Amino acid sequence: MRIRFIAFSALIFPFIIGNPVTQAVELTQGAMLSNSCAACHGTDGNSPGAIPSINGKSSTFIARSLIEFRDGKRPSTVMGRHAKGYSDKEIQLIANHFASLK
Ligand code: HEC
Repeated sequence: MRIRFIAFSALIFPFIIGNPVTQAVELTQGAMLSNSCAACHGTDGNSPGAIPSINGKSSTFIARSLIEFRDGKRPSTVMGRHAKGYSDKEIQLIANHFASLK
């Protein structure tokens, strides 16, 4: 019985990982985390002023920038301090969110 349960779990596990519901939850989390960026980078990352727009940039670019700011590898005025609050996972969710906006 137990063996059969383990075999069953191994079978359905990949479907849970690639599940559209899981993906939708991650998209929503990314959008929520990204709200804090709007104050400076504009609504949906579309900046009206001197601060760079970040909507539609690749998720690789956004994630790499945030990690470099956070780890002090890229000089910044405010981003270094702002990026300190995020884990790698959260940075990836934020990056995916902005990359999905045009
Ligand atoms: C307090 C204002 C402020 C907030 C909040 C803020 N940023 Fe920034 N961001 C800046 C400024 C200013 C720069 C230019 C680099 C610097 O001086 O820090 C920048 C630069 C960037 C860059 C590099 C853009 C490029 O073209 O090189 C990325 C990516 C970025 N921010 C993403 C984010 C994300 C994602 C968030 C939310 C998690 C965020 N920022 C929140 C002010 C802000």
